[in-house]
Amino acid sequence: MATAPHSMFARIYDLLMVPNDRLGLRRQRARLCQHASGRVLEIAVGTGLNLSYYERADLVVGIDNNTGMLRRAIRRTWESPAPVDLVAADARSLPFGDNEFDAAVIALSLCTVPEPERVLAEIARVTRSAGTLHFLEHVRSPRDRMARLQDRIKPAWETISGGCRSNQDTEGILRNSPWTIRDLWRSDTGGMIQGTATLETAGLDDPL
Ligand SMILES: C[S@@+](CC[C@H](N)C(=O)[O-])C[C@H]1O[C@@H](n2cnc3c(N)ncnc32)[C@H](O)[C@@H]1O
Repeated sequence: MATAPHSMFARIYDLLMVPNDRLGLRRQRARLCQHASGRVLEIAVGTGLNLSYYERADLVVGIDNNTGMLRRAIRRTWESPAPVDLVAADARSLPFGDNEFDAAVIALSLCTVPEPERVLAEIARVTRSAGTLHFLEHVRSPRDRMARLQDRIKPAWETISGGCRSNQDTEGILRNSPWTIRDLWRSDTGGMIQGTATLETAGLDDPL
């Protein structure tokens, strides 16, 4: 089934987000970004809904492969406390050198990008070894009822949401990636996770 064309998705994206933002997504976006410091890479920045929350960043580089989304994100750069560069790029093949960033941020996008495993490996390549990945993603719920619902809505949801795979085991993909999850919050339904991950495996018991 074909998914919504890029330009159409960009046009309706902010509208689709309004109810989610009212239900608490805005708070989660603030929590996601507020500790990202130094040179920060935001993968699949979309229309820039996270840009106003980068209180500790020296620079935010936001990439997305949808220029319609990026055009909308430009309007939000002035809301950001940090300078912002927006770059049209495919998350599977980032136009940056190794270890260029201190932190990376990804929100609601591992479910949409093709080959999320490759994207996580690319983020690991461009982030320095002591760097942090801040993530906010919806995932396949560990609860059967919710997971069955995610399976049922997948075809229709994929079409209207620009290719989002509602039932993808994103948490499993993250756990099998170069990243090690350091702290994790899970929503009551089990369908949403937020947390941080690092590339270091030592000292896992240390407080963050
Ligand atoms: C659901 S939106 C999330 C946008 C934003 N992160 C947010 O939190 O509102 C998914 C984003 O992934 C982007 N995307 C999909 N495939 C991509 C790829 N291969 N490379 C870069 N961005 C991609 C889409 O253009 C879209 O902006």
